[in-house]
Amino acid sequence: MNQQDKTRKEANHMVELSLHNDDCFKVLPTIPDKSVDLILIDPPFGIEADKLTYSNNRDNSKVIEGYREWTIEEYPTFTEKYIAESYRILKDNSSMYIISGWTNLDYILTTIRESRFTLTNHLIWQYNFPLHTKRKWVSSHYHILYLTKVKPTFNRFAESEDTKESYHYRNSVIKIPRTYNTGKIRNHNSLPIALVEKLIKYSSNPGDTVLDCFAGSGTTGEAALSIGRNFIGIEVNQESFKLIQQRLLGKEIEE
Ligand SMILES: C[S@@+](CC[C@H](N)C(=O)[O-])C[C@H]1O[C@@H](n2cnc3c(N)ncnc32)[C@H](O)[C@@H]1O
Repeated sequence: MNQQDKTRKEANHMVELSLHNDDCFKVLPTIPDKSVDLILIDPPFGIEADKLTYSNNRDNSKVIEGYREWTIEEYPTFTEKYIAESYRILKDNSSMYIISGWTNLDYILTTIRESRFTLTNHLIWQYNFPLHTKRKWVSSHYHILYLTKVKPTFNRFAESEDTKESYHYRNSVIKIPRTYNTGKIRNHNSLPIALVEKLIKYSSNPGDTVLDCFAGSGTTGEAALSIGRNFIGIEVNQESFKLIQQRLLGKEIEE
């Protein structure tokens, strides 16, 4: 297992960072029961994303190779395994966010119903600049499933000066633009940091430990550390792992 542990000061807190370049199904069993405060994941969607070569006329030459996708045959077992491990390692007052497209959402929902998690909310992330399609509706959202154990942390705060309007920020449709790293090496897909930071702020406190076992380019890690949370990141693709190291440890990447 290629592991890197680090402690550093962020947002006035000492934060701990534990990064693993490995298959999460090898690393998760090494994490103690009820030791993590929040899990936020964006697992592969089971849509052969490793073979996709187009993306809105953008430059694909900068997209790294080695994205680990799961086949539709593997998808139910894959989903069951990470949901069971997540339940085991989460503390009782904690929660989990699963971000997914719609294609194989039914497998995830079925597995959640069969698990001990409570499915507390179904959020929508609506994004700009979707892939244009001429003969069918243009898909411009992802699903975010909010799973909880017992009495989860849920912070209520205003995201702007206007406290009277603060409930708007807890609405189940979240509109946040996608971000593009034009000209830079990047993962097949990555989430906007503002979206991830918002979810982490609502569902954890400074000093808590956030885990992402499909860490991609490290968005969850960057968001977690920047607001004083500890982070455990697991990513099997060595090329993506280099991006994580660059983002979270400041390591240079050779193009
Ligand atoms: C949708 S991407 C995550 C993108 C990430 N949210 C970001 O913002 O950069 C899913 C990632 O899971 C990784 N992955 C798939 N199976 C894995 C496994 N068993 N263990 C660890 N990582 C895995 C893929 O290589 C891919 O980078």
